[in-house]
Amino acid sequence: MKIKVAIKRYVPEINKEGFEIFEIDYEEGMTVLDALLKIKENFDSTLAFRYSCRMGICGSCGMIINDKPDLACHTQVKEVAKKGVIKVEPIPNLLLIKDLVPDFTSIFENYKKIKPYLIRKDEKEQENPTREYTQTPDELLEYLQFSYCIQCGLCISSCPVSSSDEFFFQPLVLAQAYRFSADKRDEGVLERLNAVTKDHGVFNCHFAGGCSMACPKGVDPALAIQMLKRLVLKKSLGLLKERKGREVVPPYPEGPNRDKIPKAPPKTVE
Ligand code: SF4
Ligand code: FES
Repeated sequence: MKIKVAIKRYVPEINKEGFEIFEIDYEEGMTVLDALLKIKENFDSTLAFRYSCRMGICGSCGMIINDKPDLACHTQVKEVAKKGVIKVEPIPNLLLIKDLVPDFTSIFENYKKIKPYLIRKDEKEQENPTREYTQTPDELLEYLQFSYCIQCGLCISSCPVSSSDEFFFQPLVLAQAYRFSADKRDEGVLERLNAVTKDHGVFNCHFAGGCSMACPKGVDPALAIQMLKRLVLKKSLGLLKERKGREVVPPYPEGPNRDKIPKAPPKTVE
C-alpha cells in the first residue's frame, strides 16, 4: 500500500516555506518517524527533523501530525493516515530553524531562570554528597507527575499565551518551576517564585488548559501552573516562609528492607 506524506518544509536560506508531498510504501508497524526516515533515506536527504530514542522518552520528535500535537515515534501511520495521507508540520509558537526543527533556545533560557534543580544552602554537601536527602512517599506524590515531563515542547503548540507572547515562560517551564518548588528537599522556593512573577510570568497564563490536552506523557502543566500561582499568592501574603529542606541522612548500606536487593556487580571499569 502507498501512502502520501505532506510535510511542511522551511528553507531558511531563502526564507521559503510550503508543503511538499512524498509517496512511500507503507510497512506494517510503521510510525510517522519511520516514514520520515524513509523519505530522508530515499527521496530527500536534506529533510530536517529531530529524533533520538524512538520510544517516546527523549522528547525530540514532537511535531504536529494531522493538526494534532504528538510524538512522531509514538504515532502509528495506520492510525493517522486518513485516506492514505498524513500531514506533518513543526511545533508552532517557536522560531523555526529548518523544516520540522523548532528553535528551543527560548525554552532553555527560561529554564535557566527557574533553576530546575534542588537548591540547598549547604552547597558543599550538594556538590560532594556524603548522605541521602530523604522524602516520604506522600511528599514524592506532590510533584511526581510533573517529573514525567520529557521537554518535548508540544504543550507550547496548544498554549494561546505562547502564541501571542514570545517571551512568556512556556507551560513546560512553569510546570518545572512548580515541580521543584513543591519538592520538600528544596530550599530555593522563594528565589524561584521571584523569577516566575516577573513580566511574561505565571500570571500571564489564562488557564486555557490546552497544554494539558496536548501532553503525550499525561503531565498536567495547567494544574502545575495554578498550584504555582497559589504558592506566589501565599508568598505575597507572608504565608510562605523560607523552607528548611529535608535533613540529609546516612545511606542505609545494609538496611533491613533491602536484604532482597542483590548487590551491584563488580565494576568493569575503574
Ligand atoms: S509538559 Fe508534556 S507536552 Fe509539555 S514538554 Fe512536558 S511532556 Fe511535553
Ligand atoms: S525519538 Fe525520542 S521521543 Fe520520539
